[in-house]
Amino acid sequence: MTKSHSNAPEAGPATAPVRSAIVQLLSHMRDGKEIREYLNRFSEVDQERFAVVKVGGAVIEEELDALANALAFLQTVGLAPIVVHGGGPQLDTALSAAGIATERKNGLRVTPPEAIPVLRKTLTDLNVRLVQAVRDAGGRAASIPSGVFEAEIVDEAGLGRVGSPSHIRMDLVAAAARAGQAPILACLGDTADGRLVNVNADAAVRALVHELQPYKVIFLTGTGALLDESGQPISAINLTTDYEDLMRAEWVAGGMRLKMEEIKRLLDDLPLSSSVSITRPDALTKELFTHAGAGTLVRRGENILS
Ligand code: ARG
Repeated sequence: MTKSHSNAPEAGPATAPVRSAIVQLLSHMRDGKEIREYLNRFSEVDQERFAVVKVGGAVIEEELDALANALAFLQTVGLAPIVVHGGGPQLDTALSAAGIATERKNGLRVTPPEAIPVLRKTLTDLNVRLVQAVRDAGGRAASIPSGVFEAEIVDEAGLGRVGSPSHIRMDLVAAAARAGQAPILACLGDTADGRLVNVNADAAVRALVHELQPYKVIFLTGTGALLDESGQPISAINLTTDYEDLMRAEWVAGGMRLKMEEIKRLLDDLPLSSSVSITRPDALTKELFTHAGAGTLVRRGENILS
């Protein structure tokens, strides 16, 4: 038995949400071999290296149950992904309620000092809400709203308290993952002298991925896939053969272009065996445990299967 297994939580009776995840998974499976194969593969790596999952604030707002069920299901089978969440829509609302205007420069939220208490409260509340939902669904999760991302202030005059991650306090995260709890992180950073800063969610994921070198990076979104020219989900993208063509294509514009660049940046920093999946919370188990998946799988090379 691997270390991750021996440290996994005791299997109790499955909760209703976990049962429905199992039923959903079974209904997509041709034979048990497929699920077993992926389960073995995901369990082989140290549990803090299984997966980094990024969830946007909108998904927490709109699909909290599905999200909590999916994370609780992974717990049941002994997998503890590291979850990083944003809180864009919640911050917009809270800041405007506090009379603080939201301004963005190059995709970064300008963060005046008076926004910091709002940021701390909003993101911590959201973090606790997600952790509680996972627990209610029968999973184990550790709330880590801050303390992981050591950051340096980028441009205080222009952007205010926006930090770029300079160091990850891995021990905080790894201890939870090894104890079979999914660490759930908000994007709050702190400077060497203890000032709280706003860390952009993509930058936080990038820093975490660089440090951890996870087997999977998973983006949970409302759409649950990258879409092609005619709005249809793309099942798989191979960067070696497809990236140049995609970036030349006119229809790959705006958000899609940025997403492709961000994914390439992540995969260029990872071993060939790692991959990125874009999927929906309610499709996560199918994406992970079947060959066909549900969403978009992006890899760097084509000839590496494991
Ligand atoms: N289960 C495998 C994985 O998570 C394959 C997923 C395939 N997904 C897809 N959208 N083509 O790596």
